[in-house]
Amino acid sequence: MLPGAWLCWASLLLLARPARPCPVGCDCFIQEVFCSDEALAAIPPAIPPHATDIIFVETSFTTVETRAFVGSPNLTKVVFLNTQLRHFGADAFGGLPRLEDLEITGSSLSNLSTDIFSNLTSLGKFTLNFNTLEALPEGLFLHMDSLESLQLQGNRLQTLPERIFQPLRRLKTLNLAQNLLAQLPEELFHPLASLQTLKLSNNALSGLPQGVFGKLGSLQELFLDGNKISELPPGVFSQLFCLERLWLQRNTIRHLPPPIFSALGNLTTLSLQGNTLRGLPAGLFAHTPGLVGLSLSHNQLETVPEGVFAGLSNLSSLTLSHNAIAHLPAGVFRDLENLVNLYLGSNNLTALHPALFQNLSRLELLSLSRNQLTTLPEGIFNTNDNLFNVALHSNPWQCDCHLAYLFSWLHEHTDRLLNIQTYCAGPAYLKGQVVPALKEEQLVCPVTRDRLGFQAPGLDDREPGGSWDLAVEDRAARSRCTYSNPEGTVVLACDEAQCRWLNIQLSPRQGAGSPGLAYNASQAWDLRSSCGSVRVTVSVGAQVAGP
Ligand SMILES: *[C@@H]1O[C@H](CO)[C@@H](O)[C@H](O)[C@H]1NC(C)=O
Ligand SMILES: *[C@@H]1O[C@H](CO)[C@@H](O)[C@H](O)[C@H]1NC(C)=O
Ligand SMILES: *[C@@H]1O[C@H](CO)[C@@H](O)[C@H](O)[C@H]1NC(C)=O
Ligand SMILES: *[C@@H]1O[C@H](CO)[C@@H](O)[C@H](O)[C@H]1NC(C)=O
Ligand SMILES: *[C@@H]1O[C@H](CO)[C@@H](O)[C@H](O)[C@H]1NC(C)=O
Ligand SMILES: *[C@@H]1O[C@H](CO)[C@@H](O)[C@H](O)[C@H]1NC(C)=O
Ligand SMILES: *[C@@H]1O[C@H](CO)[C@@H](O)[C@H](O)[C@H]1NC(C)=O
Ligand SMILES: *[C@@H]1O[C@H](CO)[C@@H](O)[C@H](O)[C@H]1NC(C)=O
Repeated sequence: MLPGAWLCWASLLLLARPARPCPVGCDCFIQEVFCSDEALAAIPPAIPPHATDIIFVETSFTTVETRAFVGSPNLTKVVFLNTQLRHFGADAFGGLPRLEDLEITGSSLSNLSTDIFSNLTSLGKFTLNFNTLEALPEGLFLHMDSLESLQLQGNRLQTLPERIFQPLRRLKTLNLAQNLLAQLPEELFHPLASLQTLKLSNNALSGLPQGVFGKLGSLQELFLDGNKISELPPGVFSQLFCLERLWLQRNTIRHLPPPIFSALGNLTTLSLQGNTLRGLPAGLFAHTPGLVGLSLSHNQLETVPEGVFAGLSNLSSLTLSHNAIAHLPAGVFRDLENLVNLYLGSNNLTALHPALFQNLSRLELLSLSRNQLTTLPEGIFNTNDNLFNVALHSNPWQCDCHLAYLFSWLHEHTDRLLNIQTYCAGPAYLKGQVVPALKEEQLVCPVTRDRLGFQAPGLDDREPGGSWDLAVEDRAARSRCTYSNPEGTVVLACDEAQCRWLNIQLSPRQGAGSPGLAYNASQAWDLRSSCGSVRVTVSVGAQVAGP
């Protein structure tokens, strides 16, 4: 962040450099003074009168004396980036009636006293990011009546005085992320009636007082991610009528009280990713019909209740990946008519209902990778007219006749390259083959004895004909049959009266397997299926080609 800011200032300012008197160790531009000389011993006394902004970068002086800028009453912005500042006189920024923006970032400040900033009544933005502040005195913000943005990210605050924010009735943004806050006083935020954004990400909060957000009727975005929250009090969000985005990812929430989101009628984005949820209460989202993005990934969900997403007609992205979901009710996505992205990867799904994605006519991306799926039911994508990206890899696909629908859908609707890592897990003779690279005729099923109603007679007694001369018993041939030797190294698939595909594995595998075929040799195998058996003879005639 800081080198970037440095470059940005440098390049902006170089463009507008006039020839005017300027303090030693600084560069002066029309309105900005930019001081980055390590040798600078203190705040320079002679800041040009027209300057409104002064920026110190990596300077090494440690002290700002009382009213150090008093000769420059026109300053509106004072910034210290990565400097060695440690000491401040009382009223250090006194005499700056127009000061709007004060920033001290990356300066290892560990303590502040209330008299330093006591007169900053026009300050709108106050930034103390990435110091080492461990505590703040209660009166620190006294008289900062105009403050709209307060940034305290990246310090070591463990707690805050209950009344510290009392004067900040106009505050819109409060950033307390990356501190060590473990507990919040219940009334801490109560004066902040104008607050729109509150960041409490990456602290050590293990719980929240029930009423802590009770007066934040203007809050639009709340960050609670990266804490240790395991329980949410049922009413903790009950006054956040304007909340649009709620970030609860990376906590240890085990279960959610059913009414937890019921006041959040304006909520559009909710992340619960990376918690330890084992289930979702029915009706959890019944009062948040405007949700657009919802993430529940990286939890421990084993299923989701049938009606839990009912009415979420604006939902565009739903992430359920990295759970333990083994079953999805047929109608669970039924109302999601605007869903575009659906992530179901890295779960424990073994089968999907044929109507699961019905009516998801806007769906464009579907991830099913890393599940236990062996096939997908016929017609499952028939109403998904915009679907073009389906991730299928890392499932134990059974490449037989039941996969024919998915296979032909892939060929018609999607870029086959998307699934080049999608392999057959079975049957044995197709194991490891890339699914989209198969030929349709390879997707055959053994005909079961039940379907035929009789055991077809064997063909062992037939005269072995030419290499490919295969005769299959007439009635059995009406259906597809896959014949195989016991080792699975020679496989023959037939349907109708024709055999469409032969696989012979000649390279010997360890132990069992076929020996190689010698030149000018012939070998026969007896193959069985539930339709009966056949004998396949393969002859190799090797001839010397021309010189
Ligand atoms: C403040 O800026 C005004 C012009 O905006 C200028 O006339 C005045 O001299 C400046 N005051 C000081 C103390 O430099
Ligand atoms: C605040 O400013 C007034 C006048 O500008 C001054 O008299 C007073 O000492 C200042 N307060 C502090 C705490 O320095
Ligand atoms: C912090 O406390 C030390 C000693 O108590 C003091 O010397 C120093 O000026 C204080 N720093 C600030 C920024 O108040
Ligand atoms: C949404 O927020 C507005 C204020 O921005 C509020 O008036 C309205 O009641 C809220 N809607 C719901 C359903 O809470
Ligand atoms: C859904 O989105 C549309 C368009 O953005 C909006 O007009 C409508 O109010 C939203 N529905 C709900 C329930 O928030
Ligand atoms: C997946 O389901 C199987 C069978 O129900 C179960 O044994 C296994 O533990 C589940 N795996 C996960 C990661 O939940
Ligand atoms: C799909 O939508 C139609 C009408 O839009 C509705 O009749 C049907 O029940 C829906 N299907 C499902 C599975 O919800
Ligand atoms: C195979 O037989 C053909 C003629 O029958 C002969 O020309 C050829 O040399 C034989 N090849 C080998 C490797 O024995």
